[in-house]
Amino acid sequence: MAYELPPLPYKFDALEPHIDAKTMEIHHDKHHAAYVTNLNKALAESPDLAKLPVEQLIADMNKVPEAVRNAVRNNGGGHANHSLFWTLMKPGGGGEPKGKIADAIKSTFGTFDQFKTKVNDAGLARFGSGWTWLAKDKAGKLEVVSTPNQDSPIMDGKTPILGIDVWEHAYYLKYQNKRADYLGAWWSTINWDEVNKRLG
Ligand SMILES: [Fe+2]
Repeated sequence: MAYELPPLPYKFDALEPHIDAKTMEIHHDKHHAAYVTNLNKALAESPDLAKLPVEQLIADMNKVPEAVRNAVRNNGGGHANHSLFWTLMKPGGGGEPKGKIADAIKSTFGTFDQFKTKVNDAGLARFGSGWTWLAKDKAGKLEVVSTPNQDSPIMDGKTPILGIDVWEHAYYLKYQNKRADYLGAWWSTINWDEVNKRLG
């Protein structure tokens, strides 16, 4: 059973004006699709690995044959990260955090604004391409981390709770070089229900 591109859970233009329809279309139909295609190609000779849920596949990169390890890291990471990313946004999203995540942000980071600044700063400091995350370690501790390329906190034994794609392909058409403006706007799309679900 090959990995499959999950459908976008809303229309391409659903996150306007924060994220434009053309960016969403290319991001999902071209970039994410390519990660899925290339992951399937890389695992063509490893049917047992290709049966694993992608999160499980990337949790232990050492079990992936060395010849395809990089390809699986990049494309498996890309598939897992983007599958999560689409669910973390929704039309009419944004606003103040609510439920459990509101309490967790308060106790770990102080105010919501302090938390947002921390996440955005990690994204801005990421040179080149990557992601900024809220992740939970095995002890349940929350932290803001950033990863290069398509690496996932899962590769470090952590659970991603919230992640923002800071590759240029995520924002360049609308925001050009202004990653900070994209990050600022992104919070108006956040799906707090999904974040709470992931927090567990
Ligand atoms: Fe992306």
